[in-house]
Amino acid sequence: MVYSDIFLPVKKKINQSIVVAAFAQILKLSVWLILIWVMYALKNDSSHFPILPLICLLIISIIFYVLRVYAHDKSHYAAFELEEILRKRLVEKINQLPLETARNIGSGNLIKVLIDDIKELHAFVADAPPLKAEAIVTPIFTLLVLFIFNWLFACLVLFITLVSFVILSYLLRKGHLLKQQYNEATVEINSRIIEYIQGMNAVRTFDAGEGAYSQYRTALTNYSQLVFDWLYSSRYSSKIARSLFSPMLVNCILIIGLSFAYMSEQVSFTTIFSFLLLTAGIAESIYPVMGLFQILEKSKAAIDRIFEVESLPFLTRTDTYNTPSNNEILFKNVYFSYQNNQQVLSDINLRIIENSFTVFIGNSGSGKTTLANLIPRFLDVEQGSITLGGIDIKQIEYNQLISKISLVPQDNFLFSCSIADNIRYGLDNITDQQVIEAAQKAEIHNFIMSLPQQYQTLAGERGQLLSGGQKQRIAIARTFLQNRPIIILDEPTAFSDAINEVLLLKAFTRLIEQHKTVIMITHRLSSAIKADQIIFLEQGKIIAQGHHDDLIKSSDKYQALWQEYQQARNWTIAVNSVNNEVTDETI
Ligand SMILES: Nc1ncnc2c1ncn2[C@@H]1O[C@H](COP(=O)(O)OP(=O)(O)OP(=O)(O)O)[C@@H](O)[C@H]1O
Ligand SMILES: [Mg+2]
Repeated sequence: MVYSDIFLPVKKKINQSIVVAAFAQILKLSVWLILIWVMYALKNDSSHFPILPLICLLIISIIFYVLRVYAHDKSHYAAFELEEILRKRLVEKINQLPLETARNIGSGNLIKVLIDDIKELHAFVADAPPLKAEAIVTPIFTLLVLFIFNWLFACLVLFITLVSFVILSYLLRKGHLLKQQYNEATVEINSRIIEYIQGMNAVRTFDAGEGAYSQYRTALTNYSQLVFDWLYSSRYSSKIARSLFSPMLVNCILIIGLSFAYMSEQVSFTTIFSFLLLTAGIAESIYPVMGLFQILEKSKAAIDRIFEVESLPFLTRTDTYNTPSNNEILFKNVYFSYQNNQQVLSDINLRIIENSFTVFIGNSGSGKTTLANLIPRFLDVEQGSITLGGIDIKQIEYNQLISKISLVPQDNFLFSCSIADNIRYGLDNITDQQVIEAAQKAEIHNFIMSLPQQYQTLAGERGQLLSGGQKQRIAIARTFLQNRPIIILDEPTAFSDAINEVLLLKAFTRLIEQHKTVIMITHRLSSAIKADQIIFLEQGKIIAQGHHDDLIKSSDKYQALWQEYQQARNWTIAVNSVNNEVTDETI
């Protein structure tokens, strides 16, 4: 990919803007010619008012402003259009990345790409076309005119312009390296701010604001230091560049040369006047190119990062897709590790038959969530295969696969819209009555009705206005509405009190009766008793699988776990019976 490829979607508009701006610039320069004409006319015949040049001046100025505004509008529209196209393109790309890859990009980096980098391109597309047209047209037009007046002095002006341009390019290249570090420092600040705000609780509780805040402060200091170094190192180059392109230098050289030539009668007064007037324009038109170079450097870094995200590998795809005939899930010799390469799942062989109830149990970190995340391809297997209805899930069109699975994760995320909209999120034509029914099944209706604005209550950013259990039950209500054949629930009762847990389990039983394949991850073995099969994981391996009654007999480890659970449960009952709230029967 070349840098300019990024502008392809709006190339036509950019080119139109450049062409129109070029015409406008020719007209602008023609004004100088009219001034020369006025001077020439007055010098030759001082008895007549130069009316004709004046009329030309007026007409040219009007056309110039119209064209300029048009070119300016075109480039700004192109910039907004490109911004929209790129944001859509990147979000679509991110949507199709494996979840792990998307997470690894990091929020700070994503914000930099999606907001800052695209904004950077906006500035370039909006400002560059008129500046470019000006920088190309002015020297060419002016030098052509100067060559007509006097080729020798025109060559001198050309020489000075070229030398200044070479020096300018060299001076501008000096800032390049620092620019990349500058971008990295900005990404770091973004990441630290996000971390600091998202982890505010942990920050305040555990390190009194020192750890995370000092990381943020360090990021800020690095950034300030870089900006300072950058400005410091470019203090001479920018000043030299600025003076090189001020009309003063070239005018001084010309005044000396032209004065001698005039004294020896080799050039006319009009030639001197024309040279001094027009060469100033060259210097003035090239100076903005310097700004353009800087915008270009910034844009290149932004384009690099956009291309980097766009070139990340998609979820593995095949050329032909198949449709599964049923919803049986089969894991065959599945291995998986995250990027740190530690084996998280090994040799997983597992059959989850259609419309059955499967429970994953195991210690924290044993790989339950990872195993569940492989089914909707949030992660892809490293070795082995997973089939759905006999078809490898990689050969099922991704949207089709996803449309068969509802997943309620361990940490639920709500969108900053109303509770009702959160429940029907991603679904069309869902009536309020259907939302209420789903909430009732998820045991969250009564709570919602107790809120001042009931179903219209806002959930807050990331659902922060609700408790963990409330968020989870809203996600479960969404699952009821989605009505998909496979349901994966990661610790769905983790935040529930004993009564809610019983009610939720009843709701899940209803789901299974409605012919759904339910996979539940849980630490509460009471939920596992009714399961058709229990999958017991330990350090990423299945160490026992089967029905509760069988496992009690066949697996020592399950037996031990069950006993531990019983003891813990008895202890809970003892505490609860003191409060007289929950009876042994309810659990
Ligand atoms: N994104 C990740 N990158 C690297 N390692 C990870 C990632 N997520 C989980 N792990 C590691 O993979 C292992 C399995 O994690 P997993 O979340 O599947 O466990 P779990 O059984 O669901 O635990 P819990 O009961 O605490 O939810 C753990 O050792 C964990 O440290
Ligand atoms: Mg987990």
